[in-house]
Amino acid sequence: MGRPLILAHRGASHYAPENTFASYEMAVDMNADGIEIDVHKSKDGHLIVCHDEKVDRTTNGTGYIKDLTLEEIKSLDAGSWFDKKFSKEKIPVLEEVFELIKKENIFLNIELKNGPIFYSNIEEDVVGLIKDYRLENHVIISSFNHYSLLKIKKLEPRIKTGILYIAGMVSPWKYAKSIGADAIHPLFITINKEVVKECLFNKVMVNPFTVNNEKEITLMKKLNVTSIITDCPDIGIRVVS
Ligand code: G3P
Ligand code: CA
Repeated sequence: MGRPLILAHRGASHYAPENTFASYEMAVDMNADGIEIDVHKSKDGHLIVCHDEKVDRTTNGTGYIKDLTLEEIKSLDAGSWFDKKFSKEKIPVLEEVFELIKKENIFLNIELKNGPIFYSNIEEDVVGLIKDYRLENHVIISSFNHYSLLKIKKLEPRIKTGILYIAGMVSPWKYAKSIGADAIHPLFITINKEVVKECLFNKVMVNPFTVNNEKEITLMKKLNVTSIITDCPDIGIRVVS
C-alpha cells in the first residue's frame, strides 16, 4: 500500500501568495507530489487561475474575472497582499500551469469554479487544453458543480473527475459512481474509516481537503486516503514519508 500523495492547495499557500508561481515553485521545492489550482474564465475567454470570482482579495485590482480581459488581469500585482517581497507575482493562466506540470512532472488537481458565476463552455475549454498538452493522465478535475463533472466525463472519459463536497454523506462512493466520477474530494472532517474503506474497495479515490496540521494529516494517513490536499506540503511530506 503506497503512501497518500501530497497536493499543495493553491500551491504552498501557507508560505507564499496562493495560486501564483511563487507558491507552485515552493511546493515543488518541498517535494509535493502535485498542486491544486482553481480555474475561472476571463471576459475574452482565457482560463484564469485564481480562487475567488473577483480579483479584489488577492491583487491590487477590483472586479469579477468574467468582466476583465487577460491584459487587465496580467497587469495586476498578485503577491503584495501577502508580502511585499512577492510584488512581481502575476495571476497565471492555465497554459502556464500546464507548462510547469510538464517540466516538473508533477500531478495537477484542477478545481473548476463554475457557480454561482457560470462560465459558458468552461468544461470544453479545459478539456480541450488538457488534450492539447496531452495531460490526460496527469490531472484530475474536481468541482462543487457536479453537472460540470458529468459533462467532462462525456467529453473525455479518460480524464479523472472528483466530487467536491462539504457535508457528511453516507456511502459517497455510490453517488460518485453514479456520475462517473473517479474520486471524492470531501471536506476532511466529514470522512471516517467506513467511508474510506468503502470508497477504496469500490475503486473510488479519496482526496480530502484542506488538511493543514500534523495531527490532522496523521489522521488522514491512518485512514489510508489516496491524496491529502494541504496548504503546508512540507508538513504533509514529512508526515507521510
Ligand atoms: O479542492 C479543495 C478545495 O480547494 C475546495 O475549496 O474553496 O479552497 O477552493 P476551496
Ligand atoms: Ca480549490
